[in-house]
Amino acid sequence: MKEKIIKLLKENKDNFISGEKVSELFGVSRTAIWKYINTLKEEGYEIESVSRKGYRLISSPDILTYEEIESWLNTDYIGRKVYYYNILSSTNMEAKKIAPSEKEGTIVVAESQTAGRGRLGRSWQSPKEKGIWMSIILKPKVNPIHVARVTLIGAAAVNLALRDIGVDSYIKWPNDIVINGKKVCGILTEMSSELNMINYVIMGIGINVNLEDEDFCEEVSKVGTSLKIETGGKVNRKKLLAKVLNRFEELYTPFVENNDLSKAINICRKDSILIGKEVRIITGKEEKIGIAMDINEDGKLVVKYENGEIENLLSGEVSVRGLRGYV
Ligand code: BTN
Repeated sequence: MKEKIIKLLKENKDNFISGEKVSELFGVSRTAIWKYINTLKEEGYEIESVSRKGYRLISSPDILTYEEIESWLNTDYIGRKVYYYNILSSTNMEAKKIAPSEKEGTIVVAESQTAGRGRLGRSWQSPKEKGIWMSIILKPKVNPIHVARVTLIGAAAVNLALRDIGVDSYIKWPNDIVINGKKVCGILTEMSSELNMINYVIMGIGINVNLEDEDFCEEVSKVGTSLKIETGGKVNRKKLLAKVLNRFEELYTPFVENNDLSKAINICRKDSILIGKEVRIITGKEEKIGIAMDINEDGKLVVKYENGEIENLLSGEVSVRGLRGYV
């Protein structure tokens, strides 16, 4: 009901709509409508109430609910069901709990995370209402060995979405997005599978949108940044989230329907920060230096080592760094 009321108020923005009309439309009492309006006000909606005129929406809060992203969303199934939380330990953890009974494309979003998780056991800082902390539940009918490809689709989708809103960002294979040499987004893909069948994939995406310098601890601030810091202005999180979901569906559907990864790979190549650069390839304790040559059609990073040997690296196994630092 709350959702219906928000929608109606949005459709009638700038005009009053009477309590009587709302109650008639939705078949509930005027007192019930008044209660819903009060809840909405508590959630941050600014609603003007004038006797004999009714209600008028003045402004909506900066929150990532379905109602707030819907107007920018043009997907069929990605992000059409949103589990929204103020606070969670980790959206990936919550998504894993519900994944068995949810359809592909359902997302879990939290305004803050108390135990946000990064790759390789690292933690992920997720301050309140400053980023996009979300997980997409996916059920691709592909062999589990190909799951790394989903991460590349995610990275390509985030990068396209950032460029859609005018940000000059790059992809650091396989799962980081970089602006001015610093990380603004990370992707953590987790999976539950049988021997040759995927039960579900959770693709966790963390985008540092409106974080300030003081939101980063000293260690993270060396490599991490936010869109606000890099672009100098606050970025609309709702629009960006919807655009990421739009771009993700556009690239993911050909992959699951026709095993076609070409568009995503081309984006990862074209917008790569690594290709052509000298890189350090870190596998456990071993470290090798080479040149990142390409990303092949399977999504592997092609590296030529100093001794001339060429290797195609699968993500998950390695960490890639620049010679002097992060990139
Ligand atoms: C990395 O670069 O190490 C991956 C970071 C992934 C962070 C996101 S935030 C939303 C989702 N929930 C988590 O606990 N982690 C991912």
